Amino acid sequence: MSLLVNVIISIFFLVVAYIIASLYYPMLVGGAAYSPTPRKTVADALKLADLKKDEVFYDLGCGTGEALIEASKLSDHVKGVEIEPIRWFIAKLRARKAKVILGNFFKQDISDADVIFIFQYQGRINNRIVKKIKTETRSETRIISYQHPIEGMKLIKSQNEIFIYKKIRSV
Ligand SMILES: C[S@@+](CC[C@H](N)C(=O)[O-])C[C@H]1O[C@@H](n2cnc3c(N)ncnc32)[C@H](O)[C@@H]1O
Repeated sequence: MSLLVNVIISIFFLVVAYIIASLYYPMLVGGAAYSPTPRKTVADALKLADLKKDEVFYDLGCGTGEALIEASKLSDHVKGVEIEPIRWFIAKLRARKAKVILGNFFKQDISDADVIFIFQYQGRINNRIVKKIKTETRSETRIISYQHPIEGMKLIKSQNEIFIYKKIRSV
């Protein structure tokens, strides 16, 4: 076999290995693997959360930008954080009006958030995100969790697999 064929086969396997690893490696830093939220579900969630034009929206772990695209139709201040470079780049290309940040959302300042969208995992990961949200955000901030109910917050609305929360007020 020629050297060129060997090089092409090696590159092919490296690319396939990277694509498979990229789906799951966010789990190593404490986040969910990749799975996009259907656009219709995002639209329903944003309607339920009543996202407004002047409000700041975050998708923590924005994937390829489904939620950012829908949120940009309603708000002028849409931000996404994604740790995986290829998905970050795709989201940046697709969600032109949004600010798409490459990085770990646990290290992102979210103190300006009005609405936060998460599609992560129930239990340890969401508990860690909730702790961050409780420490950094205002009491009016709404949290949308897709598929996974979260603990330690006040459920204000739900529809199918969409759950909307606010912080529990301390008395
Ligand atoms: C289930 S997908 C949801 C994607 C998108 N939010 C959506 O609903 O279509 C979870 C995403 O979070 C990203 N992610 C996981 N942990 C992360 C972290 N610590 N910081 C930034 N992104 C993270 C993953 O790479 C993946 O793209």
